[in-house]
Amino acid sequence: MPKLFIDTVGCQMNVLDSELVVGSLRRQGYELTSDPRSADVILFNTCSVREHAEEKIYSALGTLKGHKEAHPDKILGVLGCMAQKDREIVTRRAPYVDIVCGPGQLARVPELIEQAKATRKKQYAFSLGRAEAGRLEVTQSFESYDPTRDPAMRPTPFQAYVRIQLGCDKFCTYCIVPSVRGPEQGRHPDHILAEVKQLAQEGCKEVTLLGQTVNSYQFHHGDGRKSRLADLLYRIQDVSGIERIKFVTSFPRDMTDDLIQAVRDIPKACKYLHVPAQHGDDVMLQRMKRLYTVAYYKEMVQRCREAIPEVAISSDFIVGFCGETEEQFATCGELIRFARFKNSYIFKYSPRRGTKADQLYQDDVPEEIKKRRNNDLLAVQSEISAADHQRQLGTRVAVLVEGPSKAALKEQGNAAYQEMTQLTGRTMTDHIVVFDGHPRLIGQTVEVRIEEASPWTLFGVVEPMQAEAAQLSQQGPPRDEPIPAGAAYPAKRRLELNLV
Ligand code: 5AD
Ligand code: SF4
Repeated sequence: MPKLFIDTVGCQMNVLDSELVVGSLRRQGYELTSDPRSADVILFNTCSVREHAEEKIYSALGTLKGHKEAHPDKILGVLGCMAQKDREIVTRRAPYVDIVCGPGQLARVPELIEQAKATRKKQYAFSLGRAEAGRLEVTQSFESYDPTRDPAMRPTPFQAYVRIQLGCDKFCTYCIVPSVRGPEQGRHPDHILAEVKQLAQEGCKEVTLLGQTVNSYQFHHGDGRKSRLADLLYRIQDVSGIERIKFVTSFPRDMTDDLIQAVRDIPKACKYLHVPAQHGDDVMLQRMKRLYTVAYYKEMVQRCREAIPEVAISSDFIVGFCGETEEQFATCGELIRFARFKNSYIFKYSPRRGTKADQLYQDDVPEEIKKRRNNDLLAVQSEISAADHQRQLGTRVAVLVEGPSKAALKEQGNAAYQEMTQLTGRTMTDHIVVFDGHPRLIGQTVEVRIEEASPWTLFGVVEPMQAEAAQLSQQGPPRDEPIPAGAAYPAKRRLELNLV
């Protein structure tokens, strides 16, 4: 069996893309390995949102240079956003790479591998740049990639990402995504539903709908009808087997009342919204071309909270964007306190060639100041998260158990899938909860009483009924009982996410 190694950097969209690529290659007989040196095909699925993500890949490619030269038959491929953005640079910095393939051409990966093997020539596959042709042609060059899913390749068998939208049309000035992932396209709702039903039949309980601006999702049926995200949520509510529906990432301007009401009214909809604010100052927001003001954002948060009092909202922030003063930076902290975000992902501005900000503005905030602002904002968020967690002490929450905690895996390795261990899971509001239990609980929803809290994690105990079940199951499942889903997938066989 030929062996395949894949490393994935970046967002959930990349994790999904890697799952799909691996699925196609496994159907062709490839076996996944976690050691690049034992692989016949080595792939990197890349991200170009920040420079750091790209440097990680160049460094990984550098460490494989000698290996590839010693084994010229092995195929080395760079896939994803960096491939689309920097095909020449990749070829220059790592001339020994065989395949360079953009995110809109992933369906061709198996064929590119075969071609590279047969011809020993470099294989390239790209979509068109946004200015290279008319919208229709450019859009068509970013193909929807929806091959058959492979449950074994998901982070867990009972959770799945489902793409509902490709590309982005917002063109925030700092962001490379609209260039590398192409124009916004909504996927046909019937195809989305078919995929969700298939996933449910395979035992999937939670789907996370993915789009760069997922709540801008629309699909024109051609007869005057239009499907939107709220319509999808109502339809997925009716899919039996699915217990939870999430969607990321939302754009503030498109958080419409019909969507908020749908999240409120649909029992399976997680009461969790990821709506990046990016900044707390109007001048910065304008310079970022975010299309809303701070007042608008705050009003949006209030609308969400009024409709869904328990809702958890999370955000992204960019610190040290061009021209950011200390006063302007301070407004980000104020916004975190106002919105009481569950958590925020905070990034130091990283200029990206090809973006408007890179052409128009100076990256004039020194790195040390960016670093300090990043830490300062994290401290504000940590204080707000800690207070939010404190309020949850003593409450009982429904937790979908995802697997052994990171600490348990580190200590016990794969034994954590066999004996009593520390488990981790998430609530309907996307809060992380850690508690002791038997791995048989993986994939189940249990009730946990919250007893302790740190800023990033809640700690609890499984309520008596489940505790009893957990104890019973310590004796191990009866012979004829199927192995619990989670237990069948030791961590090392799963795709690892390498967040940057
Ligand atoms: N520099 C830093 N952070 C960025 N993001 C997007 N582009 C950049 C950039 N050039 C952040 C935004 C976005 C998240 C996915 O990455 O906060 O929401
Ligand atoms: Fe980038 Fe803005 Fe599109 Fe998000 S909405 S992917 S930040 S351009």
